[in-house]
Amino acid sequence: MKNLLVTGGAGFIGSNFIKYVLNNTEYNICNFDKLTYAGNLENLSDIESDSRYKFIKGDICDLENVKSAISENEIDTIINFAAESHVDRSILGSREFVVTNVLGTQVLLDSAKEFKIEKFLQVSTDEVYGSLPEDDKSIKFTEETPIASNSPYSSSKAGADLLCRAYYHTHNLPVLITRCSNNYGPYQFPEKLIPLMIAKAIDGEKLPVYGDGKNVRDWLYVDDHCSGILSVLDKGINGEVYNIGGNNEWYNIDIVKLILKLLGKSEDNITYVKDRPGHDRRYAIDSSKIMSELGWAPKFQFPEGIEKTIKWYRNNESWWRKVMSGEYMKYYEKNYSSK
Ligand code: NAD
Ligand code: TYD
Repeated sequence: MKNLLVTGGAGFIGSNFIKYVLNNTEYNICNFDKLTYAGNLENLSDIESDSRYKFIKGDICDLENVKSAISENEIDTIINFAAESHVDRSILGSREFVVTNVLGTQVLLDSAKEFKIEKFLQVSTDEVYGSLPEDDKSIKFTEETPIASNSPYSSSKAGADLLCRAYYHTHNLPVLITRCSNNYGPYQFPEKLIPLMIAKAIDGEKLPVYGDGKNVRDWLYVDDHCSGILSVLDKGINGEVYNIGGNNEWYNIDIVKLILKLLGKSEDNITYVKDRPGHDRRYAIDSSKIMSELGWAPKFQFPEGIEKTIKWYRNNESWWRKVMSGEYMKYYEKNYSSK
């Protein structure tokens, strides 16, 4: 039996992970989340009364709050999803990224050390490796690729990864790091490419494609990321890094066209807009280490995953409309503040 502290569990991947763990293991989960703009407890409304689940509103930068969450819930495992996660926001202002992603991780690492936590899993990103050349598809990110982050977001995640490495080497803390490619699936905040384009296509709005639309991302269905994290948690070797990816590279423009096709919409609303500053050209993950050493493999092929995702956004319009109007932020007050 494990007692997991899942930080950032009200976000996109964290909320999918909590459901995945409840469905596939016997572990208990304490979800510790600050509820920033990206945190939405409605994502978890269907499991919030599960006896193996508990929510604590808290900031990972708040040492005392983190320590009491660990001691009161007899936590033996920490999985850190909590982060500022959107590259465009990090370009507009990077302070929150450094505070949460770097200092917050440091607080969690110190707490893990104090409480002799059995496993600390840092959920990182392939973006710490920087950008790949687009003309040589044989080159992918491996765990040996040097860290060469280019955006304030990825640099703050790289800082956190290096701190995790340091706590393993210096303090023998049982740390594991996963670096995953771009995720897609239900409950993704509609500021990221796929849900934003689905919402805009449904509403007949213009679809803003940055630059020439030829940047490449390697897309993985969120449940496959969740199963990868569980594999690393259960079988990974302390101090190691594991890449997780779908071997599924797409030009942005082709993703946008596919979404329009699946929704039965014309391409007329595609609009090329000014490029993102410092826009990484290509990401692609080599997942052979986690596949060969831990026996992980993705279950969802892209055609199935993207259809499921589009269907979910169609069937859950009220979810993303509430996000877009800001109404989702009232969920905590309405359902939790009196508890
Ligand atoms: P998200 O932005 O949807 O969710 C982040 C969550 O963290 C939110 O619930 C937010 O309230 C919470 N949070 C933010 N600051 C906090 C703080 N100081 N204390 C406590 N909680 C805080 O992010 P996501 O897309 O679900 O990503 C989760 C993790 O996975 C991140 O660490 C991200 O770097 C990593 N990752 C994401 C992707 C992707 O494609 N989305 C890919 C690889 C790795
Ligand atoms: P995003 O979902 O923000 O993820 P990341 O930047 O972390 O990879 O963006 C995915 C790709 O889509 C990236 O190359 C930027 C591009 N993009 C657009 O072209 N238009 C948009 O409106 C957004 C949000 C992203």
